[in-house]
Amino acid sequence: MNDKNLKVLVLGSGGREHTLARICDQSPIVEKVVVSPGNGGMAGEFETFSVGVEDNEAIVSLAKAEEIDLVVVGPEVPLCNGAVDALNEAGIPAYGPNKSAARLEGSKAFSKDFFARQGIPTAEYGNFNEVGPALAYLSTCKMPIVVKASGLAAGKGVLICENREEAEEAVREMLAGSSFGESGKEVVIEEFLEGEEASLHLVCSGESYVALPMSQDHKKVGEGDIGLNTGGMGAYAPTRLVTPEMLAQYEKSIVRPTLAGLKAEGIDFRGTLYVGLMLTTDGPKVLEFNVRFGDPETQVILPLLEDDLVPLLLASARGEELPSSVHFKDAYAMVVVLASAGYPESYPKGEVISAPSDFPEGSQLIHAGTKLDEEGKCVTAGGRVLGAVGIGSSLQEAREKANSVCESVDFPSKYFRRDIGHREFSRT
Ligand code: AMP
Ligand code: GLY
Repeated sequence: MNDKNLKVLVLGSGGREHTLARICDQSPIVEKVVVSPGNGGMAGEFETFSVGVEDNEAIVSLAKAEEIDLVVVGPEVPLCNGAVDALNEAGIPAYGPNKSAARLEGSKAFSKDFFARQGIPTAEYGNFNEVGPALAYLSTCKMPIVVKASGLAAGKGVLICENREEAEEAVREMLAGSSFGESGKEVVIEEFLEGEEASLHLVCSGESYVALPMSQDHKKVGEGDIGLNTGGMGAYAPTRLVTPEMLAQYEKSIVRPTLAGLKAEGIDFRGTLYVGLMLTTDGPKVLEFNVRFGDPETQVILPLLEDDLVPLLLASARGEELPSSVHFKDAYAMVVVLASAGYPESYPKGEVISAPSDFPEGSQLIHAGTKLDEEGKCVTAGGRVLGAVGIGSSLQEAREKANSVCESVDFPSKYFRRDIGHREFSRT
């Protein structure tokens, strides 16, 4: 295969995948992007297939039938389910970690033990699969304390407990009850950390990696960071919270030991490593590893890349060395998530979305929980419906552009936070 006229399959249906599909489509070495299963916005822009992300056999058949040169796997579920292993066995390059490497996200207990073995800074913790020892450990802990379902829980498996009673109840419900199903059959009990959070994304291939601009997500549903945790209500990049010197320090104390440690443990890590950091007064601590791009962080990180993304994805998928430096634009990006009111609990679906067909330079509308109904109308189909993206020469300009996208789009339950980036704007 020569690296021209590539056909790329993007797997997934969220804002992250819509962004990945658009960015791959702009690559001069890509002839065609197809998506599966996609969403209402992707369906209008790309050839769309209906294969679900959890069916490895069907994914391989689709990639073969469509003569795909590179599969980009968006979400964590297929990565933890071995989609990349299945594609590689069939000789198809796929971007993302294999099943063994995906345990860094799929099992918080596994990743915490990995941090301990490799000396990666993280919160004090204990892993438990029985109620008795978990309660005994809790009796030794300071409050508040954090109780986490070890397995995948779509960002909802983390409970911050103010007192012992709450923590004991969380532990019992996960281990003895059925909250979070199989994902809650092992729990991590973790020291509560205070500080500001930042997301570091790395495209990795073994021990070589490319660090992408630092971003900051807004996980709480309400303005002022109050209310329930969500998958993310908005993000911006880059953030001044992390200086280039600090980033160099994180690479030394976290990134390189992680990739070297994985290699020493027999894991050739390929794909995205997303390091969720808490910047505490004791220095940076890793809250979690994810093994895919963040959503909505992708919407603000990838547009800042000046160089072509696809050769990086391809080199990573093949296990080749990545370039030692890549170029980023001297620009800022913000995404404001347009959700359905009621998210992350219950919310209506099937509402008709009205949106302009074109946006000015530097403004984009990214689809997430949307679909086309029987009449071909684009309707809401999830909690996080759309992403309003602005890119500008300052964060202020990026915000103005994102806000005007928010105002130009409508559906009856439209809800969004108007304070995305508030920490950055209040930094002196
Ligand atoms: P995780 O999925 O582990 O990143 O947790 C989701 C969110 O819960 C994080 O982004 C933090 O806001 C919060 N969180 C997780 N672990 C801790 C901790 N040890 N201390 C304080 N907050 C935490
Ligand atoms: N926005 C948080 C995540 O993708 O995990």
